Formats: sequence, structure tokens, C-alpha cells
Amino acid sequence: MTTVATVGTSATDIEFHYDLGNDFYALWLDQTLAYTAARWDGIAPGEPDATALHRAQLAKLDHHLDLVGAEPGGGARLLDVGCGWGSLLVRAVATGRAAEAVGLTISRAQHDYLGRLGLPGVEGRLESWEEYRTERPYDAIVSVGAFEHFATAGMSRAERLAVYAHYFERCHGWLRPGGRMSLQTIAYDGVADGSGPVGEFVGTDIFPGAQLPRLAEIAAACDPYFSLTVLSASAEDYARTLASWSGRLLRAREEAVRLIGEDGYRRYRRYLRASEVTFLRGATTLYRIGFERRDQPLKLSV
Ligand SMILES: C[S@@+](CC[C@H](N)C(=O)[O-])C[C@H]1O[C@@H](n2cnc3c(N)ncnc32)[C@H](O)[C@@H]1O
Repeated sequence: MTTVATVGTSATDIEFHYDLGNDFYALWLDQTLAYTAARWDGIAPGEPDATALHRAQLAKLDHHLDLVGAEPGGGARLLDVGCGWGSLLVRAVATGRAAEAVGLTISRAQHDYLGRLGLPGVEGRLESWEEYRTERPYDAIVSVGAFEHFATAGMSRAERLAVYAHYFERCHGWLRPGGRMSLQTIAYDGVADGSGPVGEFVGTDIFPGAQLPRLAEIAAACDPYFSLTVLSASAEDYARTLASWSGRLLRAREEAVRLIGEDGYRRYRRYLRASEVTFLRGATTLYRIGFERRDQPLKLSV
């Protein structure tokens, strides 16, 4: 099957990033291969890095499953839009919070990895959210760290709003009445807009084609389809996750250089450190948002 992401980051750009090889990412992510901010509440700064990162990643996954009401043993049908290597799908099924967990990704390496796991109840699909169709409604939808790829750099605010509204409309269509959804995304804060050397480096060398949203855009785009039930912001959660990844990559330097070369290794170290600084400076932040599906979409102009 081929993937077509007609808006947002293209499959080619996604592959530029994610298809560097699962072994490379496994060197510095935790064992779930979660590649988004963890949730560090209650994890002491002195805890050994490997267990601390893993515990914080599991806490993040459980937080999203709580937000969508996927209770342990509840056996929900769950969709993960932008599932990466499947950390949330695996957690949801292993804890009985989901009986059936379907994930969309546009990275072939991630899709193939998930297929090789061969877990009952877990289905990875190499498909963009724009293409995805299903006849069977979901109880819950989670999306963690994919929204940043739904629009592209260079779009006007009106174009971004149209794409985001389209996404929320699709989620509304996939969910059963009363269904819940959660979203985790990086967003610009303050006057930041991605211009400047760090934004340009990340936009060219690391995540070509990505575009961060602003909170007001998410709020306006979801409004016809969802009521917003929970909103939290934590730049610290991403800064601490990036610091942890950065330290782990440094310690795995030799193997990383063997896998992606000296230039690639330096590029990733620079990206992790530079991104940490944007969170510490308050130029970017991290939102976790809970939503409840409106029974009937409202006739609002976005
Ligand atoms: C930063 S990763 C996050 C993965 C995972 N949610 C996690 O927390 O580790 C972004 C994911 O979004 C996916 N993605 C980007 N654009 C997409 C699209 N249009 N449709 C579906 N998935 C998309 C990528 O393939 C990738 O799996």
C-alpha cells in the first residue's frame, strides 16, 4: 500500500526522519520507543535515567488513556493517529484498556516494526488520517505528537485552520456518540513563529515539512465538533524528556556513529539540545488536551 499525505508533512519527509532506522532510535528512546514528551510528575530528578524515562513515558501513555476514558479492563476500540512504533497501542492492549487498538502512521519503518510485533488486538496501518475510512465507530481516539505534521510550513493561518478543522471533522466521524479524544502537541507560545536559526535548522535538517500550531488555532478548529474538557500545558515535560534523550544519545555515541555516521550523530545532538532550549525559553510549549464529541456539529465558521 502507498501512503499519500496530500496536506501536511509528506511521506517522503516523514521517511527522511523516521526511516533512519529503528536501531538508531532504540539507542536513546526508552524501551516503548515513545518519541514524544513523557510525563514527569512525581519522578524525582535523582532517579536513574533509564528507569525514570521509562516510568515517565508509561505515565504519559496512561494519562492519555485516562483522558479518553479507556479504563483498565474496559476493552475499548481505540484509534491512535500517528502511532509511531506503537507505544500507546501496545500499552492500551496490554493493560486491557483497549480490546482493539488501531494505529495510523505514514512511516514504513514504523509500520513494519509494528507488524513484526504481531500482537493480537493491535493493528498498524500505513495510512494518512486523510485517507483513512472505517465503518466501525471508535470509543476513543488519541493522537500524540502527530498534529505537528498535519499542516506544513508556508501555509497561511486560514489554510492551517482548514486542515485542522478537517482533521477534527474526521475524528468526529470516526467516534461513537459520547466518544472521547485526546491530543498532545507541541505549539508555539509567545511571539515565536519558527523563524530564526533554531527553527530553520529543525525545519530543514530534522523535521522538513512540519508546522507547529498555536492554541487558538486548535481551539477554533475543534469547536464545531468537540467540546474541550481538559487543557494542560507543560514545557518542562518536553525539556526534561529532551535532556534525557540527549544524555542517552551521548552515552551511545559510538554505536550511533556506526549506525548513522558522525554528521548524523552531531545533527541529532544539536537538534535535541536546541529543542530543549526552545522549551526552556518559552518559545514552544506542550499541550495535552481532552475533548468530548458533540452529538451534532455546530454551524460555526472556523
Ligand atoms: C513524533 S511521532 C509520534 C509517534 C507516537 N505517537 C509517539 O508518541 O511516540 C509522529 C507520528 O505521526 C505520524 N504522522 C505524521 N503525519 C501523519 C499523517 N498525515 N497521518 C498519519 N500519521 C501521521 C508519523 O508517521 C509518526 O508516526
